[in-house]
Order: sequence, then structure tokens, then C-alpha cells
Amino acid sequence: MNHKHSLTITDNRTGKSYEIPIQYGTYPNYGASINALELRNIKTSEQDFGLLSYDPGFTNTASCSSRVTFLDGEKGILRYRGYPIEQLAEKSTYLETAYLILNGELPDQEQLKCWELGIIEHTFVHENIKKSIDRFQHNAHPMGILVSTVGALSTFYPDAKNIHDQECRNKQIWRLIAKMPTLAAFAYRHSLGLPYIYPDQELSYVGNFMNMLWKKSELKYQPDPVLERAIDVLFILHADHEQNCSTSIMRGVGSSYSDPFSAASSAIAALYGPLHGGANEAVLHMLAKIGSVDRVPEFIKSIKSGKEGRLMGFGHRVYKHYDPRAQICKKMAKDVFAVTGLNPQLDIALELERIALQDDYFVSRHLYPNVDFYSGLIYQALGFPLGMFPVLFAIARTTGWLAQWQEFLLDPEHKIERPRQIYCGTEERGYIPLDKR
Ligand code: CMC
Repeated sequence: MNHKHSLTITDNRTGKSYEIPIQYGTYPNYGASINALELRNIKTSEQDFGLLSYDPGFTNTASCSSRVTFLDGEKGILRYRGYPIEQLAEKSTYLETAYLILNGELPDQEQLKCWELGIIEHTFVHENIKKSIDRFQHNAHPMGILVSTVGALSTFYPDAKNIHDQECRNKQIWRLIAKMPTLAAFAYRHSLGLPYIYPDQELSYVGNFMNMLWKKSELKYQPDPVLERAIDVLFILHADHEQNCSTSIMRGVGSSYSDPFSAASSAIAALYGPLHGGANEAVLHMLAKIGSVDRVPEFIKSIKSGKEGRLMGFGHRVYKHYDPRAQICKKMAKDVFAVTGLNPQLDIALELERIALQDDYFVSRHLYPNVDFYSGLIYQALGFPLGMFPVLFAIARTTGWLAQWQEFLLDPEHKIERPRQIYCGTEERGYIPLDKR
């Protein structure tokens, strides 16, 4: 063992010392770790189970090693497969970025063409899926519809269970990335009582999505290029974010060798919550509640006093700096508003950000705007109802979920996920018959 790269721990209960090796990832100053199982050797006696680490919410526990996304929350860095998010948002497309995230390298022209054609080919869904969407209440939340229909895909494609077959996995990856916009658009049209629009295979990934959402009686839907690009960039920004709540669920469910549709359905359910993918919806509810710029100081005061809950769209488990995705969204909002007209709630958001970034409560806790703070305003300007916001997030994140699911399956250290607990309940006791209680 290299003693410079190890920990020496002394157990003061026994006086014994243990040497534990330190292991590294790509960056020696980021992600140095110890193998938690080494702690199990630390015991007071042979009968002792050994030491566990306790980490509710996994705030300092690496559940895997990964080569997909690098995130340094202290410095506000986000890279997919080594490429900075700023460069991908400026130069790439969602489908090209998806290829990169899934395969590790940017595609050449031929690979990109083949990848895009494969996606277009799988955009249609079985007619029975369409009928099942019809059965939902007219006001059903589209995320609820998405959870069910993505899970249902496993019954349409039972071959998806062959998770150890690379070719079969590729097919499911194509299917899911291709069908997400179709399912999302059908859920949206259902909520409006409008007929479903079938995919137009001559349009881009996002252009076709816009077509399925908003086509009326025109013969061919022509997406506005500025808005099409804005949605594409938002999809790039949301494509992956390493081990967040929904991705951990995708890996966790996938760890028992579930098919990818069932695992993705669980990931969508995790994304549904307001602390994760539902946050941008919550931001707009909050802005509507504030109502006008002059009421911002009063609102901030009530957040600080704990009366109002949290400032939605602020704070992040890993970013202790401005979220780089929020910077890109903030800039892009201007391009979108030039086409759609200004969103009046932008002024309230800007004032909230201005005041919060000067306030010691937020500064001392490193609370900065996250991606959801501005993305909701853009989605609203594009005409999406609030319920569709997490759905847009889910479409984009499907790439990351699938890449991480596949990476975990191929990991030689793959194990079914099964955390430990610290039992704090009562000790053994005898059963008391009902008439004696
Ligand atoms: N507004 C006010 N106070 C906050 C906020 C906030 N948005 N976020 C954290 N705090 C306070 C919190 O009350 C605590 O204060 P104290 O130390 O006095 O008890 C301190 O900051 C640390 O909070 P925490 O709960 O330990 O932080 P966390 O890392 O567990 O939570 C978070 C991260 C994202 C759940 C949280 O910041 C939050 O609830 N933000 C609002 C919801 C939101 O915008 N979520 C979207 C996240 S980005 C999209 C995604 O990647 O999913």
C-alpha cells in the first residue's frame, strides 16, 4: 500500500489502528474516496458487525464510478464526456449530444446520420398506447400519463428484457428517445381535448415535437427556427446531470435487471417531485403569487423567516455557485422573448435574483439560481402549460438515464443496490395478545 495515499484510522474503543487506501477518479482533487467496505473491518469484537458510514440523502457517498458527466458544483462546471456544457449548448444539437452522452464520443457525419434516422424511424407509438391515453381523465397531469405510458412500453416490447444483449439494448435506447416526444405531445393534446398529431419524419427531433404539439389544420407544420433552437438547447442543458435523484433511481431499478422502460418509468416518477423536475413549475407558481416587482422584498423576508417555504429555483445539492445552465437559460430567454413577446414575470424573477444575491441569508448558504429559475419562464413564453414543464425535462433527461443505466449494467463492479440502515427501533419483545393490550 502507498502510505501517502491512505488513511490511518484509530478506533479509540479498542486502540486498534487500520490503514485504508484512498482511491481516485480522473481528478485527484475531486472525488478522492475510500471503499466503504473497508470500514467493516473496524470492530470491537468478532461478534461486532463492523462500522457503517451514515449518510442520509447520500450527500457524501459515491454510489458508482462514471465516465458520463463531470460536475464541479463549487466552481460551476458541467461537462458531458469532457465537453463543456457552454460549447455543446452553442454548437451541438440535442441528438448529437445524446449520441455523445450514450457512446462517449461525438459522432462523425455517417454515424450522426444513421443515429438520427434510427430515431426518426421509431417515433410512432402503437395505437393501443394512444387508446390508453384516451382513458385518462381530461385533466390528468401529463407526468402521470408519462409514468404510465413509458412503463407500459415494456409490455409492447417484451424483448426489452434482454438487457445483456447490446443490439437489443441499442434498439430500446432508440425506441425510448424517439417515443418520448410522441408520448409527451399526446398527453398534452389529450389535456386539451385535441386530436393527436402523428410524427412528421421530415422534421428535426424538436421540429417534429413542436408539430405534434401545435399543428392545427395547416397541411405542413413549419416550426419557428428560433423557438426550435431554444427547445433544442434546453434539451441539451437537461440531457444529463450525473447522480441526481431520478438518475439514481434509474440505476437503482436497473440494478435488479429490470427492463429499461420500467426503470425509466420510475425515474420519471422521481422527476415528478417539486424538489427535482417539478421545481420550474413551482417557480412560476411562486412568481404568480408574488404578483409584482414591488412585492419582492416582502416575499424574500417571508422566505427567510420560514413562513413561505423555499425560494423555488434557488439552491442545489451540488452547485454552491451559479448553475452554468441557469446562465445559458437567462441569456436565451432574451432570444425567445424577441419572438414571443416579453414574459412580464421576467422582471419579478430578475428582481428576486438581484435581491437574493445580495442577501446574507442566501449568500452564506451558497444559494444561487439553478436551471429551473429561468427555464420555466421560457417554457411559459413558448406556450407550454405548467404541467408540461417536468415533461420537457423528462424528454431531455431520457438520454442521461439510458446512458447511466447502460454504464451501470456494463460495470464490472455492478451489484444490485441495497443500502444499509442504522436500526434505532425497539429491541426484541414478546407478542401481546389483543385482549391483553
Ligand atoms: N430557499 C431558501 N432556503 C434554502 C433553499 C431555498 N431554495 N435551499 C436551501 N435552503 C436553505 C435550507 O433551509 C438550509 O438552511 P439551514 O441551514 O438554515 O437549515 C440550507 O439552505 C441548506 O439546505 P439543504 O436542504 O440542506 O440543501 P439540500 O442540498 O438538501 O437541498 C435543494 C437542495 C435543491 C433540494 C434545495 O436547495 C431546494 O429545495 N431548492 C428549491 C427547489 C429547487 O429549486 N429545486 C431544483 C433543483 S435543480 C433541478 C434538479 O437538478 O433537479
